[in-house]
Amino acid sequence: MSSTAVIGLQWGDEGKGKVIDGLASDADVVARYAGGNNAGHTVIVGEEKYVLHLIPGGILHEGKINLIGRGVVVNPAALLEEMDGLVARGVPIEERLRIDGRAHVILPYHQQLDGLAEVWRGEGRIGTTGRGIGPAYADKVARTGIRVADLLDPDYFRRRLHAALAEKNAMIERVYGQKPEFDESLADQALECAERLRGLVVDGGALLRQAEADGKRILFEGAQGAMLDLDAGTYPFVTSSWTGVAGIAGGTGFPARSLNRAYAVTKAYTTRVGEGPFPSELHGEMGERLRAAGNEYGATTGRPRRCGWFDAVVARYASALNGLDGIFLTNLDVLSGFEEVPVTVGYRDGDQVLTEFPADGAVLERLEPVQEVLPGWQEDITAVRRFEDLPETCQNYVRFLEQQMGAPIERISVGPGRDQIFRGENGRDCLWT
Ligand code: GDP
Ligand code: IMO
Ligand code: MG
Repeated sequence: MSSTAVIGLQWGDEGKGKVIDGLASDADVVARYAGGNNAGHTVIVGEEKYVLHLIPGGILHEGKINLIGRGVVVNPAALLEEMDGLVARGVPIEERLRIDGRAHVILPYHQQLDGLAEVWRGEGRIGTTGRGIGPAYADKVARTGIRVADLLDPDYFRRRLHAALAEKNAMIERVYGQKPEFDESLADQALECAERLRGLVVDGGALLRQAEADGKRILFEGAQGAMLDLDAGTYPFVTSSWTGVAGIAGGTGFPARSLNRAYAVTKAYTTRVGEGPFPSELHGEMGERLRAAGNEYGATTGRPRRCGWFDAVVARYASALNGLDGIFLTNLDVLSGFEEVPVTVGYRDGDQVLTEFPADGAVLERLEPVQEVLPGWQEDITAVRRFEDLPETCQNYVRFLEQQMGAPIERISVGPGRDQIFRGENGRDCLWT
């Protein structure tokens, strides 16, 4: 009986896909609880690259159940496309995938509204992934949303869709001044998708509670990152769900007090896609260098990621608020070749130095990072498999991050491959018990 959460510690894209895939070999169930196909989780197996958007990261392992929890927003057409892509590569999806009937669906008008809202925001745009995530969650909260289970009953679904479309089309026309693109013919397409998904729909909370009672190992897969969390993140430049450990119970129906362990994944530096505060961001040549070294382009939208040095203020804040047992440090290899590796340890706001992450958006806009500069290392470390074999300055860099975060670095990843990972100096043998 063991359940473990793995979340992102920064603004997403920390390498959760690789870590989840690695831990999944010891799991029985892998469950997503937040976000939707805004996520892009990369798993590299040998020469093969998989980018998972909605499907949990245990899908490549035989005999594992992968659950899309009720807190996820599901675009049925996008899910089918992702499933078909995996089936074509020989993954037996139907055996391994389950979807909670309480999960809300993203329909084409959500995607249209996502784009229109961004245009409306102008300079204040969030830089969303354009997948309809915010509008779908807004409908859920407004109680006009449609759930996966509703799609399985055509009459009920048509009634819900009729009501939703009347409202959405009025909004598109009268608020945004655009011609509505969608009518009730949408129902036929959605119902067609639903028929293909019907056999996979379950009560996800019940599945997880039973798995727990049966002594199974459950792995909760975070999407996005702590700083994109609706409440804890850099609001309003966040996503519309609860991305941290706090989102698990609500997003799955697994009792909060039953969770045994929580880990987070962080890069050895920082990236962010989209708009919003990023105190340690590097502008100019150094930022370009980091982007090129880490090949930092979004796995979902292909947008160049903004890059900066490691931000210990962010890491301490996100680590504390999620109550972490340990950290997975990724992309350490990307820092090879830099003369110096600065770490942001505080923020300057006028003549004040802040060491806690501020809530105030206006303060976040004007902060300057306070940095501690550590010596870099030149060696390629992608073939290293033991902490002791890292260059000394690299070991000291890792020790410095560990001390800043106040949680042990369990594993260190030095490349995208499955085998490019090893135990941190204070990492434990078994992460499950
Ligand atoms: P996720 O959203 O957290 O799953 O992360 P993404 O898949 O969006 O982005 C992480 C990227 O870094 C992917 O291209 C991974 O293949 C890659 N990656 C993961 N770990 C490492 C690592 O240790 N070193 C390097 N160089 N790349 C890594
Ligand atoms: P994974 O799981 C990085 C960002 C978007 C935008 C903001 C809101 O791969 O780490 P949304 O479409 O959710 O309304 O966009 O959140 N964002 C991500 N950034 N990784 C992700 O997921 C993200 N999911 C959303 O770029 O800034
Ligand atoms: Mg990603």
